[in-house]
This record gives sequence, C-alpha cells and structure tokens, in this order.
Amino acid sequence: MRIFSGIQPTGRKHLGNYIGAIRQYVEGQDRGDPAIYCVVDLHALTVPFDPHALREHVYDTAAMLLAAGLDTDRCILFRQSDVPEHTELTWLLSSVTAHGDLNRMHQFKEKTARQRELVSAGLFIYPILMAADILAYNAHEVPVGDDQRQHVELARDIAVRFNERFGETFVVPEVRIPEVGARIMDLQDPSSKMSTTSASPAGRVLVLDDPKTIEKKVKSAVTDSGSEVRRAPDKAGISNLISILSVVRGVEPEQVESEFDGQGYGAFKTAVAEAVVEYLAPVRERYEEIRPDEKALEKTLEKGAERAHAIAHPIVDDARRVMGVGPAA
Ligand code: AMP
Ligand code: TRP
Repeated sequence: MRIFSGIQPTGRKHLGNYIGAIRQYVEGQDRGDPAIYCVVDLHALTVPFDPHALREHVYDTAAMLLAAGLDTDRCILFRQSDVPEHTELTWLLSSVTAHGDLNRMHQFKEKTARQRELVSAGLFIYPILMAADILAYNAHEVPVGDDQRQHVELARDIAVRFNERFGETFVVPEVRIPEVGARIMDLQDPSSKMSTTSASPAGRVLVLDDPKTIEKKVKSAVTDSGSEVRRAPDKAGISNLISILSVVRGVEPEQVESEFDGQGYGAFKTAVAEAVVEYLAPVRERYEEIRPDEKALEKTLEKGAERAHAIAHPIVDDARRVMGVGPAA
C-alpha cells in the first residue's frame, strides 16, 4: 500500500489542515509502503506569491509536519520542485486530460472568482500537476480533506484514460477522507470551510496560535440561539465544534453529545477550547525547536527528494516510453 499526499507551503496551517490532513499523514506512516509526503511549492506559483516568502514557507510547512509527528525513518518527506519528474509528467498527462474537466473544477472556479490580478494558466492546469504528483509514485491511497476529493477523482480519471490509451501504466489511486473532520468549518462563518484565505482571522485556529488566542477564538465561535449540544443541519456552528472535540479527544461524536447533554454552550465551548489547546501545544513546542535550524530542514528535504526520485524516475520513464517519447528502451 503506497500512500501519497501533498500540502501547500504556507506559514499558517490551521486546525482544518491538521484534522483533515496532517493527522492522517501521521497515522499513515506505519501503513504506507512507503508513505510519501510532499510540500508542493510548484502549486503555490499558481496564485500571486512572494519568492522569498515561498522558500520560507516550505521550511515552515516541513517543520510543522515534523512537529506533528512525521518521522523520516518511517516516511518520505520532500519538496516537490526537487523532483523534476512531477513537471515532466504533468506535460505528458495533459494530453489525456480534457479541457472541459479542468473547467469543472470547483477550486478553479472559486479561485478565479477571487482573483483580482492575473488568472494564470497554471491555476487552470493545477489539477494535472496534482495528478502527476500522485501517479508518479503509483500511489494507492491519497489522504486529503473533503475539498480535494474532486481533484483526486480527476487524477483517477486521468490514470484510467492513460491506461486505456497507452496500456496499463498507472495505479488508479483511491481517495482517503476522514469520517469525522473532513471539513472543519470557519468558527465565525460555519457555512464556509475553515481556510487560510477566509475573511476573518477569528474564524480559523492556527496550529501555532498561543493558548489564549485559541481559547478566545473557540469561545467566540458563532453558534445558534438554542442550547442543545447535538448535530443538526440548522446547527452548523455546534456541529462543527462537536466534530472538532470528537477528533481531538479520539471519541465518537455521539459520545460528545451525550456528555454535554443539558450542559449549555458555555461549558461545552470551554471544554472544546481546553481540548484544542492541549492537542496543539506539543506541536507548537516541537515546531519552535525544529523550525530555526534551516540547514537541518534542507538536509531532511534533500534526503527525502533522493528517495522520492528513485521511485518516480522509473515510473515516469515508463510513461514516456509507452507514449513514444524519446528513444526506445
Ligand atoms: P492545503 O493547505 O490547501 O494544501 O491543504 C492541505 C490539506 O488540508 C488538504 O488535504 C485539504 O483537503 C485539507 N484541508 C484544508 N482545509 C480543510 C478544512 N477546513 N477541513 C478539513 N481539511 C482541510
Ligand atoms: N491541492 C492540494 C491542496 O491544496 C495539495 C496537493 C498537491 C495534493 N498535490 C497533491 C494533495 C497530491 C494530495 C495529493 O490541498
């Protein structure tokens, strides 16, 4: 079982990223053969960015993943741009990707609507690069949050179309989305997902927020005029807090509901705040230790890239060969 996932380099990973994705990466380390995790700096070029900040954010994200518990003796952690097979395979796969499919991607539509500057061609072909990330490793399983489901489905379609056209070459990957916590919602606007770019900073808990800030954000989370701690379509705020607490404590949402039955929102929010603080504190502490040593981080990424390259190279070579690109083997 080969596992692959990618994460964008930013300095501001939030609780949604942690619960939806990072937690799964850590869990996958001992199932993956191997588990491969990639900081996708090339994806970050598709929206406006600052070159200096980009490099820093790769270190921020790598340090965050290590602080969360990734152990490079048990997984491969690397920077996307260090393995050129990703970009080469993107081009090869573009010949079996329908323009119309790219046009249907929700994330493309959302990001285009928000973009006031140039809408780059890169933003449009972003999902092909993501498919290349996955297919270059013949990954079986792709752990992501719910917002990436459509992209992984496209990667599957691309693999199937490639195999039909050129012969069995790629593994068709399966998406892995957590049962609870696949879509953590914004604390100030529980009808939208928690995101790095949303309007209100109070709506997202950052992994590196200090305990006071976390407490304040959780306690001021938007709820409803009722008082019952239970999940319901018209109780988006409370439902979200129930998901968060159940994941953080490692219990079923039903258990959270029965524990707080009749207790009111105040006591419930206090418990959520405490649990989140306790959950993130060790990650923040380890991060503070790991992040300053950029030389060590660079070395870790470099070693990861060597291992990643050894897997991707023969697979992408096969793809070229069956497509008639370059000399016969
Ligand atoms: P990104 O930072 O956009 O690269 O996202 C990294 C991972 O976090 C992806 O697997 C996303 O699906 C996941 N993710 C992002 N936002 C959320 C959220 N609000 N709830 C759950 N998972 C999320
Ligand atoms: N697009 C993903 C996101 O924004 C990141 C990503 C890039 C990814 N390549 C990937 C996720 C490959 C899974 C597999 O979150």
